[in-house]
Amino acid sequence: MSSLGNRALPDQYAVFGNPVQHSKSPFIHALFAEQTAQSIVYQKHLAPLDGFADALRAFIAAGGKGANVTLPFKLEAYALATTLSERAAIAGAVNTLSFRGEEIVGDNTDGAGLVRDIVLNAGVPIAGARVLLMGAGGAARGALLPLLAERPARLVIANRTLSKAQELVQLAMAVNRKQSALSSSTWDQLNEEFDLIINATSASLSSEVPPIPVSVFAKSCLAYDMMYGNEPTSFMRFAQQQGARVRDGMGMLIEQAAEAFFVWRNVRPDTRAVFDKLHAQMSEAVDATKSTARLHT
Ligand SMILES: NC(=O)c1ccc[n+]([C@@H]2O[C@H](COP(=O)([O-])OP(=O)(O)OC[C@H]3O[C@@H](n4cnc5c(N)ncnc54)[C@H](OP(=O)(O)O)[C@@H]3O)[C@@H](O)[C@H]2O)c1
Repeated sequence: MSSLGNRALPDQYAVFGNPVQHSKSPFIHALFAEQTAQSIVYQKHLAPLDGFADALRAFIAAGGKGANVTLPFKLEAYALATTLSERAAIAGAVNTLSFRGEEIVGDNTDGAGLVRDIVLNAGVPIAGARVLLMGAGGAARGALLPLLAERPARLVIANRTLSKAQELVQLAMAVNRKQSALSSSTWDQLNEEFDLIINATSASLSSEVPPIPVSVFAKSCLAYDMMYGNEPTSFMRFAQQQGARVRDGMGMLIEQAAEAFFVWRNVRPDTRAVFDKLHAQMSEAVDATKSTARLHT
């Protein structure tokens, strides 16, 4: 047999979503693999809205080793997992799957990615900080325990639907009853300053800003939007007008991917280099769009 015949095929990974075309995960994981000399292939899989389980099973049968899961399949992935990490069990959603024989292990790396991006990349300590978490959907739920593990002085969850914020407080209380720093609020009841304000709502998708009082921004507050894009989000622009430093969720995206890569390969990639490359790629896309627009005018 030739030496080529003896060479092992790369391990297969994929991201499942609908839509999935926009996903940056293949780009990020290809850079991680190159940097750490891991032999993997990582592809996008558009699963039918009613066909995620079948698409996933076909991937496992074809030898897939692991998968990321994005909208709208994170809850279905949670239900399909035969084993859950503690952070996935608490998040109630799964974004990272590992396939080990018959076992489907579900994990959630979003919260860890958020905390790493704020503490390590932005250099903003959460320990002792007054934190406002806006939103009570899947992303806020995934972020809750990793944020509390950093021991903030305060953590207030504010949401359009107050009952969902109250549910998150109850969830954290069920894990650890001594959560004196934690409370829920409506937007208009917010009457204190925060050092860190995290937008985990999807309001920026429709260029909206949750109606928070401007008095919530402490001096040198970091305003973090989990959403990311080629331009600052509506929340980031609003926060800047109040004198806050701002950051979007691109670092979180890369850090949650690095955490998934670590779960699968037991190797932690350098995220800084990938951040720079992804940033450059997105800026090039903006420039290309602008020159195309010029050509058409
Ligand atoms: N960077 C990353 O890696 C990363 C990872 C995960 C998520 N994200 C981003 O995080 C955001 C939330 O995602 P998700 O999965 O948590 O979504 P989700 O489960 O659908 O939750 C959406 C949340 O936003 C609130 N909301 C929606 N529209 C609003 C508006 N116009 N004004 C105020 N609140 C509004 C909802 O409030 P109600 O409860 O009242 O409906 C809910 O709390 C998205 O922008 C997503 O792109 C980023």
